[in-house]
Amino acid sequence: MKKVLSLFLVALLAVTMLAGCGETTPPAAENTPAASNPAVEVPPADNGNDKLVVGFAQIGQESGWRDAETNDIMWYAAQNIDTIELHFADAQQKQENQINAIKAFIDMGVDVIGLPPVVSTGWDAIFAEANEAGIPIILVDRNIEGWEDMEGVTFIGSDVILEGQNAAEEIATLLGGSGNIVELQGTVGSSAANDRYKGFHDRIEEKYPDIKVLDSQSGDFTRAGGKQVMESFLKTYPGQIDAIYAHNDDMVLGAIEAIKEAGLRPGEDIKTVSCDGVRAIFEAMIAGEANVTVECSPLLAAQFFQAAQDLKDGKSLPKFIQADEDVYRRETAEADLPNRKY
Ligand code: AHR
Repeated sequence: MKKVLSLFLVALLAVTMLAGCGETTPPAAENTPAASNPAVEVPPADNGNDKLVVGFAQIGQESGWRDAETNDIMWYAAQNIDTIELHFADAQQKQENQINAIKAFIDMGVDVIGLPPVVSTGWDAIFAEANEAGIPIILVDRNIEGWEDMEGVTFIGSDVILEGQNAAEEIATLLGGSGNIVELQGTVGSSAANDRYKGFHDRIEEKYPDIKVLDSQSGDFTRAGGKQVMESFLKTYPGQIDAIYAHNDDMVLGAIEAIKEAGLRPGEDIKTVSCDGVRAIFEAMIAGEANVTVECSPLLAAQFFQAAQDLKDGKSLPKFIQADEDVYRRETAEADLPNRKY
């Protein structure tokens, strides 16, 4: 608990600093909640606080994408400091820390809790506590098993299975329909890794019988993890790997280092497709070392705080609020880079 509280202080300090020093972080996405989903019953969120009081239990800092999401949340809260009070915890990739943070938010009596869950199971008890306290939970960018049927739970994020399907189509195009690939999976047990795996494998099995997945292992969504796993793939399958599919850009950036150290040309000898769309992958594409990124936007703050305010105001929300996403290729990376916000 001591650790969580000190993390709150660091984060709150960061919010205050952002408010003081002006708009240095990217503006939030302009999406508004889609009205296409059926409304759900949620517990009343107004806990008598004047401001909208939000607890946000972030996973950690495993990737550039995650940092962009954190910056966006903090930037938005800092811009609206008169109406929003943000309590932020960095759980350092541990579910236990996220659960402790949620407990602390419940004790504080926040209006709404925001949670990008590090893994997709093991939340029943703490979600029941929040529900009993009348505090709704907004899942951000990742979901959990059974979320569709949970009372007081809304999900804001991307269609991650579609990202996996899009990645499969891009790999098939790069390989002309046949070749060997290796896969770098995200954090084991996370919905982002499960869904990117499912969307990709289902599509390859359905449409591309001549594409073979030689191996698939987790690099935990980190650059160091991606490099380490790729080093081992290169030793196990010398001269056999035509492409990598990575569940995020950071892992492919690590893999690019491993490929270069092995004397091969990333983006040429071994093609790459990854997910996220961080600036660093656009730079790698411009350098000719990466091929495709399937976007997954971390700029969810505007949608998140709007949804939280709606809950506080007693409005009903769609169960799923979808973020926008696109696919970006090396050919247009130079023109695209100036427009990237993360
Ligand atoms: O949940 C989204 C994933 O989490 C992003 O793809 C990854 O980079 C992040 O850490």
